[in-house]
Amino acid sequence: MMQEKYLLSLAERFGTPLFVYDGDVMLERCSDLRRFITHPRLQLHYALKANFNPALLTLLKEAGCGIDAVSPGEVEYALKLGFAREKIIYTANNMTDTEFEKVFSSGVVMNIGELSRLRKAGAAHPGMTVCLRFNPDVVDGDNAKTMTGGELTKFGILLEDIDEVLSIVRRYGLKVTGLHEHTGSGIQKPESFHAAMKALMSVATRSNFPDLEFLDFGGGFKVPYKPDEKRIDYVTLGAGIADRFRAFEKEYSRELAIKFEPGKFLSAECGVLLTRVNTLKRNRKRFIAGTDSGFPQLIRPLLYGAYHQIFNLSNPEGKEEVYDVCGNICETGDRFAEQRPLPEIREGDLLAIANAGAYCYSMGGIYNMRAMPAEAVVKGGRLISFRRRESDSELIGNILDHTESCDTAL
Ligand SMILES: Cc1ncc(COP(=O)(O)O)c(C=O)c1O
Repeated sequence: MMQEKYLLSLAERFGTPLFVYDGDVMLERCSDLRRFITHPRLQLHYALKANFNPALLTLLKEAGCGIDAVSPGEVEYALKLGFAREKIIYTANNMTDTEFEKVFSSGVVMNIGELSRLRKAGAAHPGMTVCLRFNPDVVDGDNAKTMTGGELTKFGILLEDIDEVLSIVRRYGLKVTGLHEHTGSGIQKPESFHAAMKALMSVATRSNFPDLEFLDFGGGFKVPYKPDEKRIDYVTLGAGIADRFRAFEKEYSRELAIKFEPGKFLSAECGVLLTRVNTLKRNRKRFIAGTDSGFPQLIRPLLYGAYHQIFNLSNPEGKEEVYDVCGNICETGDRFAEQRPLPEIREGDLLAIANAGAYCYSMGGIYNMRAMPAEAVVKGGRLISFRRRESDSELIGNILDHTESCDTAL
C-alpha cells in the first residue's frame, strides 16, 4: 500500500471518501506479467470493467496494453482515450443487434460466444472477421458468481458444438482470427490455466482456421486479499504457460499471438478507498465503526463476501478491538468488514480499505443518492490526476435534466 503520510495528506486535501490509485504499482504488475509469461508475442488487454479511471488507462496505453471491452460504451471510451482499434477486443454477452452494429462499424474485433449471435453476425456481414469465445469447461475462480466456465454459466460456445461452429463459419465465409476463453476471476489453481489452455488449443487444432492469429485466455490472475493469503507462484505459472504455448505452436506449425485480459492482477492492489469514521456505537456485543462511505462505493464485501484488508491510518498502534466497519447506507449488510480486529478506532480516524483498485469504483452506484467518491492518481510520488466528486446538485440535476413529463397515448 502507498505510504501512509501521502494517504493522510490526500484525505486532508480532498476530503473523504476518496479512491487513491498508485500508477507505479499498476505498471509494476504489468511488467511482472510480461516477465512471467516469457513469450515474444504476448499481448495484454486490460479488462477495462475492473477500473475505468482515465489516467490509469492512459498509463496502461503508454505501456503498450490493449483493452478488453464488454459494452459499446467501453469500446467508445477506449477509442476516445486513444487505444488503437486493433488493440481492443469486444467481448459482450447477450448483445443486441444495435450494439453489434455499433461495434462492428467501429472496426473492433468482435468476440462471439453464442451460436445464435454467430449466425446473425454471419447473415448480416458475410466474410466478417470474428473471434470465437468457448466455454473451457474448467470451473475455477474466487467466487461462484465470477466463475465463467462449466455448466452453470451463460458464457461461451460449448466445446462439443464445434461442428456447428464450423458449419456456420463455412456458410458465411467468416474469417476467424481468434479463439477465446475466460475461466473466471481469481483463479485459485494454476492447473486450471493449463486445463483451459488445453481446451482452447484442442479447438484450434480441430478447426484449423486458416486466418487464426491469436489465442486469448482471458483474465483471472488472482492477487492476495487476506493478510495470510499466499501469492500464486506466477514465475512458475508464467513459464509453464509460455512453454505450453510454444509447444502448441510447434505442433500447430504456426506462430500465433498469446493474449490475456487481466483486470484484478493489474489494478486491484494499486488502489485504496479512504473513508473516515464519524460515528462509534455499540449494539450490545458488537462495536460499530460508522464511516462516510458505503457499499455502493465498494460493493465486493456485500456482493461476494469478499475480504478487504482495512488499516487505521490515524491510530496504527492503537490497542486492538473488534469492529463491524459499516457504511452510511440503509441496509444491515452495508459492512466493509464484520467482527474485524483493528487498532482502536476513534471518531474522526481515517481508514484505508486496501485492494480497492479493481471492481470497486467501476461497480459503484449512487444508491441513497450519494455521489461516487473522488479519485486521485499518484505516480512517481506526484499527484498526476484528480477526478472530483459530483456535487449533490449535479447528481440531482443529472436525474432531473434527463426526465420530462409526458402525456402521450400508448
Ligand atoms: C471476458 C473477461 N476477460 C477478463 C476478465 C478479467 O478478469 P480478472 O479481473 O479476474 O482478471 C473478465 C472478468 O469478468 C472477463 O469477463
